[in-house]
Amino acid sequence: MTNNNRANFGSKIGVILASAGSAVGLGNIWRFPYETGNHGGAAFILIYLACVLVLGIPIMVSEFLIGRRSQANTAGAYQKLAPRTHWRWVGRMGVLAGFLILGYYSVVAGWTLEFIIEAASGSFVGKTAADYISSFTTFSTNPWRPLVWLVLFLLSTHFIIARGVEKGIEKSAKIMMPMLFILLLILAVCSLSLPGAGTGVEFLLKPEWEKVNASVFLGAMGQAFFSLSLGMGCLCTYASYFKPDTNLTKTAFSVSLIDTFVAILAGLIIFPAAFSVGIQPDAGPSLIFITLPNVFQQAFSGVPLLAYVSSVLFYVLLAVAALTSTISLHEVVTAYLHEEFQLSRKRAASLVTGGCIFLGILCSLSLGVGKEYTLFGLTLFDLFDFVTAKIMLPLGGLFIALFTGWYLDKKIVREEVSNKGTLKMPFYKLLIFILKFIAPIAIALIFIKELGFLKL
Ligand code: TRP
Repeated sequence: MTNNNRANFGSKIGVILASAGSAVGLGNIWRFPYETGNHGGAAFILIYLACVLVLGIPIMVSEFLIGRRSQANTAGAYQKLAPRTHWRWVGRMGVLAGFLILGYYSVVAGWTLEFIIEAASGSFVGKTAADYISSFTTFSTNPWRPLVWLVLFLLSTHFIIARGVEKGIEKSAKIMMPMLFILLLILAVCSLSLPGAGTGVEFLLKPEWEKVNASVFLGAMGQAFFSLSLGMGCLCTYASYFKPDTNLTKTAFSVSLIDTFVAILAGLIIFPAAFSVGIQPDAGPSLIFITLPNVFQQAFSGVPLLAYVSSVLFYVLLAVAALTSTISLHEVVTAYLHEEFQLSRKRAASLVTGGCIFLGILCSLSLGVGKEYTLFGLTLFDLFDFVTAKIMLPLGGLFIALFTGWYLDKKIVREEVSNKGTLKMPFYKLLIFILKFIAPIAIALIFIKELGFLKL
């Protein structure tokens, strides 16, 4: 079933860096610390790790094998593997989810550019806590400024996508991912060297089990999905560019390990710094845009140069992480339009970029001038976040597990996992058991709970 004309990732390391680039993003550096802060620290992290191991890795293997076997975009994949069935809707829902996520994710990604400029021009210096709040609110509700950054961010994504799989996606990941690791390590060392950093580390390492309830468990599962880019065919699309000799299980382990490592490292940057200056870690979504600039200024108040460098580096890091993720979201939709509607890759990419700029502008304006236009009591920005992360991703993950566990011929599954019998499969039985039973039941539970049908 290999199609010789189809684009491929050129190297094994390229496969891992591009997939890890998709997984590592605002989800790790912005959402993970804030969720950990809200859910009481170490216990949340341990449950999160269990979710990555038990649910994330099997579903990732599943997306990989669907993508590589079909050699098609995610909607085309189900049409090839399950012709004339309704499974194709799983793929189509994934494409739609990708488009919607990209619409609001790019808004936040655009903010990181504004913050690089603010940090670099020294405008964080000498502000009070109230100033940070008002300057963030003034910026994010301004009708023009965020739009300029949004468009710039999407154009950068577009430029890389238009260059293709190997020269665009793979090459950019090979440059940006090592840069990201270096920035993370520098910032973690800075943060851990602060006086009082130990309290932050303790918060991350010492579980308080009495704080654990059903919502912590469910929050951790949702975070695992979002952070690992699962549930909408994103890694399925990337896997359609894998070569026949890519070891799917090993790649899923490596990507999950890198993603988790980055999330924990982001925690090691943010919590020691926050505790060191006496800021509570449960500030919520504003943590990195309002609290953190303040944290850097206060934490390094004795060494202004360090305060300056660490805040500039932090927002550069965030922008790079977000870019490798927006690329993967863009690719899902571009590949779909390119292959299903016979458009050239460039034209498909332009349509996606144009559509996303439009959606992004609406989302961005919905935080400011368009605040009063709400649907179900949510602004467009919040609505997109809710519908994708809380409905479409869990539903997609559920169907992906059911598809591989129950529908797909086990001969195909075995051939893909073992690369046609050339690899040993120590975890095969466990993989199938999880995909058949554990994952669908667990995901159905979060899904039902998050929609509020079930009061656990
Ligand atoms: N995982 C990315 C992050 O942590 C975001 C992302 C990229 C994503 N592709 C996705 C989330 C597909 C869900 C599905 O920021």
